[in-house]
Amino acid sequence: MIIDGKKVANSILEELKLKISKLDKKPTIAVIIVGEDPASKIYVKTKHQKAQELGMNSIVIEMPADVSQESLLAKINELNNKQDITGILVQMPLPAHIDSYKVIEAISPLKDVDGFSYENVAKNAMGLVPYSYSCTPKGILRLLDEYEIKLEGQQVLIIGRSNIVGKPLSMMFLNRNATVTIAHSKTKNLQKLALESDIIVAAVGVPKLVKSTWVKDGAVVIDVGINRMSDKKLVGDVDFEEIQSKASFITPVPGGVGPMTIAMLLENTLELFLLQEKEQK
Ligand code: GUN
Repeated sequence: MIIDGKKVANSILEELKLKISKLDKKPTIAVIIVGEDPASKIYVKTKHQKAQELGMNSIVIEMPADVSQESLLAKINELNNKQDITGILVQMPLPAHIDSYKVIEAISPLKDVDGFSYENVAKNAMGLVPYSYSCTPKGILRLLDEYEIKLEGQQVLIIGRSNIVGKPLSMMFLNRNATVTIAHSKTKNLQKLALESDIIVAAVGVPKLVKSTWVKDGAVVIDVGINRMSDKKLVGDVDFEEIQSKASFITPVPGGVGPMTIAMLLENTLELFLLQEKEQK
């Protein structure tokens, strides 16, 4: 069965739109983009458009590639202190002269729509409820829940140990009582690990890394990869055509995990807005 991320995401967006339409004041997301990276520009434009479609306010702050770290941190601080700014997102990756960790640290955890801040990451790791969860992992769990896929006691393999996907996702699966293995470029016998897994999540950015000979019958396969090939085609980290007949559930690329990430970003923004409103009372 193909997991229709686009459909699930659209229904979440419709619900968010309805909730936002009932608010007197609207949430505002501020997106900072540094430099001219074409992929980042497309991502930021999509986030801006979707936020506006939902009836949120969205501002995009463009900074030149040679902006100083000091100026960027000062801008974040200014946004932290503005009551009418709900959420702050700094598009990654940043130019090499800027320390991303300093940037993440600067964003108030209560305005951290990405779920990247130390406080939010730590709370997730401890099984507490953070102000926000990292968007892609949150979207993956939402999809699995939507299709009523059991997590408790399941053997989960996550391929990729990024701070954005692999690591926070592993904690979320653990919090749901799954047994988790995190694989990475130095992992031995990846195929063997994959063959033992009930759920495989591929998030490494290697086109068609996961083959059908890696997947046991009935496994659930989640593809986080978005690889742009030389012919402009988008390909995931999973060989979809080969695996489709073996897996019980599989996400396509595009139309699987991708649309969920942005839906979760906007959901995070609304949730932070409601939390901030409560704190101000
Ligand atoms: N770059 C790629 N993915 C993301 C994301 O989820 N958030 C931010 N801020 N930058 C990204």
